[in-house]
Amino acid sequence: MRANFNRFAVSKYLRYTWLMNIDEKYMRMCFALAKRGKGRVEPNPLVGCVILDKDGNVISKGYHKKYGKNHAEREALLKLKCNEAEGGTLYVNLEPCSHYGKTPPCVDLIIERKLTRVVIGMKDVNPVVDGITKLKNAGIKVDFVLEKEARFLNRIFIKNMTQKLPYVVLKTACTMDGKIATKTGDSKWITSNKSREEVYNIRKMFDCIMTSSNTVISDNPKMEHKFKCILDKDSRTEKNAQIYKQGNIYIASKENTPLKDNQLDLKAVLSYLYNRGIYTVFVECGGTLAGAMLKEGLIDEIYQFIAPKILNDNNGMSCFNGAQIDKIKDCKPLEIYEIKKIDTDILIKTCICNVFK
Ligand SMILES: NC(=O)c1ccc[n+]([C@@H]2O[C@H](COP(=O)([O-])OP(=O)(O)OC[C@H]3O[C@@H](n4cnc5c(N)ncnc54)[C@H](OP(=O)(O)O)[C@@H]3O)[C@@H](O)[C@H]2O)c1
Repeated sequence: MRANFNRFAVSKYLRYTWLMNIDEKYMRMCFALAKRGKGRVEPNPLVGCVILDKDGNVISKGYHKKYGKNHAEREALLKLKCNEAEGGTLYVNLEPCSHYGKTPPCVDLIIERKLTRVVIGMKDVNPVVDGITKLKNAGIKVDFVLEKEARFLNRIFIKNMTQKLPYVVLKTACTMDGKIATKTGDSKWITSNKSREEVYNIRKMFDCIMTSSNTVISDNPKMEHKFKCILDKDSRTEKNAQIYKQGNIYIASKENTPLKDNQLDLKAVLSYLYNRGIYTVFVECGGTLAGAMLKEGLIDEIYQFIAPKILNDNNGMSCFNGAQIDKIKDCKPLEIYEIKKIDTDILIKTCICNVFK
């Protein structure tokens, strides 16, 4: 009796893990499809969809290709004949929409095509979407898989939608002892040519780059980009500085920005940028501004380039400055998600841990 029970429990467990593995496999396929929309769907989320027939064969795939165009589920379902998906399973990395936007609700089409199971990566953070309830009310089984990965894929969308602020990535290039410049302000060059070329390419992936008056005055950088924001409370930067020679430029100063503790209110600047259609910001600055942004919880990710050099001078400038911390437990916790070797340097990409919450 006992042996029979165990056999039953084991086979149930094996079936469960087998199904989990299958679900993970197709959800990862959705992620890969979703990524194809990068650069064309924003500020919409990246979404991919895979459909299996009732026997478990892949019969259609789709992804959200362009802002305003069909959602991934509609894209995949419309490739099929009306009854082809009946009894099948639909995988999608974001909860299907239940409202009329630029396209009709995807849940209605899923219900109409008589799928029996929908596997979702993450619930939509858009409060108008409640596709899950509508699917369940129609008798469709709903399961979740790889939720953390699904949220990570659409972390920019989540930040934009929930906080109405751009997603902020801060870049810093430092020595192995965390210094970005000597005490005299000399910082050219800490990292290799290849690392700096990588920075030029990374900049292109953002809607805006942001820097400070101090960095403009000390380094006179070009920072070529279509849109730049310079924080310069007292308009101290020279108008013939290199940075002003190219691109659309927004200078945040005390004339157009509220102050907080006698400094520019950084959240107000980001909010202004968001309302002008800037959804991602790449910040390149020294330790003062980086520290202030970190303290205020305005940074979502840090790209840290580390060169195999040691300054060995406590008076050298640090990547982050400004907090008074006595205990290591009070450090800002980060999560590394990518490490890349670039010529002699390494690039570490980290997320502030709450990105996943
Ligand atoms: N290695 C690297 O990755 C890297 C990158 C950039 C710069 N650097 C180096 O960093 C050095 C400059 O660093 P830094 O610490 O002096 O300057 P910083 O961090 O670049 O900028 C500080 C300035 O930002 C402005 N700011 C605006 N709002 C602020 C707020 N709420 N809190 C704090 N600051 C705010 C203030 O200028 P206003 O009062 O004028 O607004 C402040 O003086 C330079 O030597 C440069 O070479 C290194």
